[in-house]
Amino acid sequence: MADIFERLIKNYGPIGQHRERAHGYFAFPKLEGEIGSKMKFRGQEMIVWSLNNYLGLANHPEVRKADADASAKYGLALPMGARMMSGNSDLHEQLEAELASFENKEDAILMNYGYQGIMSAIDAICGRHDVVVYDAECHACIIDGLRMLAGHRFVFKHNDIEDCEKQLHRAQALIDKQQSGGILVITEGVFGMAGDQGKLKEIVNLKSKFEFRMLVDDAHGFGTLGKTGSGAGEEQGCQDGIDLYFSTFAKSMASIGAFMAGPKTIIDYIRYNIRSQIFAKSLPMPFVVGNLKRLELLRTQPILKENLWKNALALQKGLKERGFDIGKTDSVVTPVYMKGGVEEATLMVMDLRENYKIFCSIVVYPVIPKGHIIYRLIPTAEHTQEEIDLTLKAFSETKAKLDAGAYKSEEITDMANK
Ligand SMILES: Cc1ncc(COP(=O)(O)O)c(C=O)c1O
Repeated sequence: MADIFERLIKNYGPIGQHRERAHGYFAFPKLEGEIGSKMKFRGQEMIVWSLNNYLGLANHPEVRKADADASAKYGLALPMGARMMSGNSDLHEQLEAELASFENKEDAILMNYGYQGIMSAIDAICGRHDVVVYDAECHACIIDGLRMLAGHRFVFKHNDIEDCEKQLHRAQALIDKQQSGGILVITEGVFGMAGDQGKLKEIVNLKSKFEFRMLVDDAHGFGTLGKTGSGAGEEQGCQDGIDLYFSTFAKSMASIGAFMAGPKTIIDYIRYNIRSQIFAKSLPMPFVVGNLKRLELLRTQPILKENLWKNALALQKGLKERGFDIGKTDSVVTPVYMKGGVEEATLMVMDLRENYKIFCSIVVYPVIPKGHIIYRLIPTAEHTQEEIDLTLKAFSETKAKLDAGAYKSEEITDMANK
């Protein structure tokens, strides 16, 4: 018999194995000060490209005031208990109604967190004869939701409609054989790593050939895409074909919580059957009031989305002009693809932080294949053209050093907090 704890400390996992050198710098860094395009990291002011504060709402004075006033008025506890038992309020219901109307759906349900919310929604919706057909690059919360699925799941190659159709055929055949069950297709509005939009319209069009329902996680599209900011469905002109629309409040809304919107009957079903909400305390009032204020600003101040896009396009254009590969993004998420090992990537990140005062996130092996590095830049409405120019210059110079082998190293530099 093995001791479970012993096994864990023999192998801390793909990222955990680097913790002794990486903690506090490459992993678990602490950004301090007011949330914005400039923050402090280890005492130095940096231009920050790591926060999904797309619209700059995190520090909007009206948002800060609404959060503070609601905290003073209600405290952090109210309402106590789960929504179903004792934790409901008019304001929770008002936020749901406003979200539903914004998304052009009949109803919406609030969730405390996106991750557990969507997992649990999949669990509530799907039975053991149902089949889920999903995009290979769906977020971890969807993959974990599918782990709980008693039915079958078929994955299609990322954004590959032909393969999606093939998997729908397989799903259909299985259901015919079982003589029961239905199909749920799950994809995302914007894939958060590469920034490419999910092919929602093409998938919706497949409804003419197959019978299925569609759930879209639009965490990165909500507030950033579509004429009114209601997301990727609006952007692609297929919101009506999306049966269940989901977004977290963790990005454009710069808050905590999430929601799912759809037909009244189905949202009601979810409301009475979603275990992560039925068996958990409801969202505290300051979050509900704060989210109402954020939604109001998101809807009524289009300038925030305009500034976001102005900055995103300037950054993306500048990177492309300098010969950088930014892949297939058609959202504000801006990946920069480079080649190099994990050790080189960490030295380049250090150079960017220590000498150029640029803070951005990197993705390396084992999250992506060996020898590849992805920088992930998240523009916000708050960045300035000067910050964009400094970043472009820093990227040009550090890329030249990377190509010249200046960051070659045998091991990850020890930058951990001691
Ligand atoms: C695509 C996507 N779905 C869901 C989530 C989870 O949302 P939350 O942070 O509210 O748990 C995230 C990350 O925040 C995400 O990027």
